Amino acid sequence: MKRARPSKSRTRHAPGAETLAVAARAVHQVRNDGRSADVALEAAAERTDRAAVRAIALGTLRWYLRLEPALAPLLNRPLSELSPQLTALLVTAAHQVEYSRGAAEAQVHLAVDASRIVGEARASGMVNAVLRRFVASRAELLATVDADLSRRHAHPRWLVDALRASWGDRVEQILAANNQHPPMVLRVDPAQMHAEDFLRAWRAMGREANSLPWNADAVVLEHAASVQTLPGFDTGAVSVQDAGAQLAAPLLGAQPGMRVLDACAAPGGKTLHIAQRTPGLKDLLAVDDDALRLARVRENLQRAGRDAVLVTADLTDMPPSLAGERFDRILVDAPCSSTGVIRRHPDIKLLRRPGDIESFAATQARILATTFELLKPGGRLVYCTCSVMPAENQGVVAAFLAREPRAQAAAWPESLPRPPGLLDAPVGWQLLPGGDAGTDGFYYACLTHAAPSRP
Ligand SMILES: C[S@@+](CC[C@H](N)C(=O)[O-])C[C@H]1O[C@@H](n2cnc3c(N)ncnc32)[C@H](O)[C@@H]1O
Repeated sequence: MKRARPSKSRTRHAPGAETLAVAARAVHQVRNDGRSADVALEAAAERTDRAAVRAIALGTLRWYLRLEPALAPLLNRPLSELSPQLTALLVTAAHQVEYSRGAAEAQVHLAVDASRIVGEARASGMVNAVLRRFVASRAELLATVDADLSRRHAHPRWLVDALRASWGDRVEQILAANNQHPPMVLRVDPAQMHAEDFLRAWRAMGREANSLPWNADAVVLEHAASVQTLPGFDTGAVSVQDAGAQLAAPLLGAQPGMRVLDACAAPGGKTLHIAQRTPGLKDLLAVDDDALRLARVRENLQRAGRDAVLVTADLTDMPPSLAGERFDRILVDAPCSSTGVIRRHPDIKLLRRPGDIESFAATQARILATTFELLKPGGRLVYCTCSVMPAENQGVVAAFLAREPRAQAAAWPESLPRPPGLLDAPVGWQLLPGGDAGTDGFYYACLTHAAPSRP
């Protein structure tokens, strides 16, 4: 039988050039088309090298704002005059030179081949020359760039200024933590498995993980792993969830027989936690305005044999489908700038604009006002975000408390251990990236609905 010859396109380029080109395309789509990295990487989902594409693209997005200005002096014209695709390729290749284990010269060869793959063959000589000079002089180029704080940490200047205005001396801690590779953190459902059991099973597989002193259900893997390899993942005994996010359900403190609303629920990490923590709820409603994302809540719950009523609705106004409903507990995990999870989503640094914070805050205020109307007197509402911007956090909650006499701020529950490094905000609590708990950045506030006074 005749063997099919490898196609020319497979032999023409050095192995790895296509991986680099696909990663560069994803970087380009984030940088120039404003797509999220997850969406941009969907094109690579079926590729055998998808893990490598993802690692290169996310690494490049993490360091984009440090590498791009380091390359600029090597060009004989402003970067803005290059095609955006070519700039993305140069920065992606510079990332591989600076941050990958591969030999720098080999990365230059790959980039030259990749320039042909992305349709920039005419620029291949320039790519070669620029990257060779980058290899030769990157120490000096980066030293110059690193004199500037925002470039050293590869963050947009407006974000660094906003973080400094809010967090003063903690700004460097936050910026450095945002560039760390995030740990893979699991939540173990104690009704099915104890964290110790997971650790034993994981170590028996030759892997390492650690428990957290302040959260008996959390396990931090030493190295990230595919979820299919996790003992107990298939049955929902184990879920992937940052330890900061694991605080939402305990703060909510739902009890059997209660009606619970998970507002802004998709993809359902916290819905599942609520369902697993409190069997015997009277109702669990998961609401989100994105029907596609809401479908993932069902998938998440089904894995663990749980269920909830799913409602697609925009909560910036009272949806007719919920008007008149009352709940004992409401979780509002509001859409936000995601500035607390930059280590997991480095594309946030390139996607967010200064005006976004104000516009998120306006949406959050409306969602909080709508959902509070759905809270029973005596009920509890937990408002949270994965933002570190006070305007989206205590700003929203304090303004709401000031205009809503029925709402009161509640204290941290005595029965719940405080994570180390948890900061008391003027109202609510903040976890910062790089804080002692090692979590993502999160904000939480608990509100109660004052029961009507007796006549
Ligand atoms: C932070 S995410 C929620 C994460 C989720 N709670 C979890 O733990 O998996 C915020 C969610 O709010 C939804 N959302 C955004 N605007 C909304 C609105 N106006 N009404 C309802 N949901 C909204 C988004 O679609 C997104 O799924």
